[in-house]
Amino acid sequence: MPETDTSSKQKNFHTDVVQTSEMFFLKGSNSYDWGMKNRLARIFNPDSGKTVMLAFDHGYFQGPTTGLERIDVSIRPLALFADALMLTRGALRTMIEPSTGRAVVMRASGGPSILKELSNEHLAIDVDDALRMNVSAVAVQVFIGGPFETQTVNNMTRLIDGCMRYGIPVLGVTAVGKELTRDARYIGLATRILAELGAAFVKTYFVPGFETVTAGCPVPIVIAGGKKLPEKDALQMARDALAQGACGVDMGRNIFQSDAPVAMIRAVRKVVHENMPVREAYQLYQDLKNQ
Ligand code: R5P
Repeated sequence: MPETDTSSKQKNFHTDVVQTSEMFFLKGSNSYDWGMKNRLARIFNPDSGKTVMLAFDHGYFQGPTTGLERIDVSIRPLALFADALMLTRGALRTMIEPSTGRAVVMRASGGPSILKELSNEHLAIDVDDALRMNVSAVAVQVFIGGPFETQTVNNMTRLIDGCMRYGIPVLGVTAVGKELTRDARYIGLATRILAELGAAFVKTYFVPGFETVTAGCPVPIVIAGGKKLPEKDALQMARDALAQGACGVDMGRNIFQSDAPVAMIRAVRKVVHENMPVREAYQLYQDLKNQ
């Protein structure tokens, strides 16, 4: 039996204050349950509505990628400046401290290596294990227009069904095959399909005409960094994508292959969360690099 409430203080029900319910800050996400929203709010900063995700899951199909030969050495100093870490469960359990305060976005599809047909992916994790690792989201690659298009769409929809039981958001990643044109028409098609089939957010490439892609996609889009660019160009790409409706970046090589990875991720943060102009962000990058 709990103790009786013996406080002499007068109860106050604030009868003059109406209880309010606020709209959830993230595009297209208002109808989700509390757990799903809470996980999304660990990835996307509720103040800026944006995210800086650090992607270093490349090893799941291409082995020891340049810059990721030793994740324990190269990524740990960067993790501090990321909102979320996108990685494999192997990397998480072997090289990331459980005390990291970062959200985890777990790679959940895989199968073929760079030596085979890349679109022939299957699901590579159970929802049970994702829960065990306390993930904030899982990520699945979908190859629209690729040889295994239907199989990869099916991977995503089955994963969403499993994850919806527990309120885990699924990040749909649009994979661009060699044979496909990387333009707004194709990217608009792919991102819209992923959103319509239930992805909570989508990752894709920045292309000219990106504002039509974000406008036509009812869930948040984050951009992949893609191949390494000069730092100033990568900052410009992030800024342009944000200006055209992206909700953040999921950047890998343009950070961990930079001459000064910590300086670069700190400059990217300024662009994403504080709308810093590229000239200033690049100056910050150079100042931090020379320190
Ligand atoms: C690609 O399949 C991987 O999942 C990466 O997470 C993704 O490409 C983002 O990394 P990057 O910025 O290096 O393109």
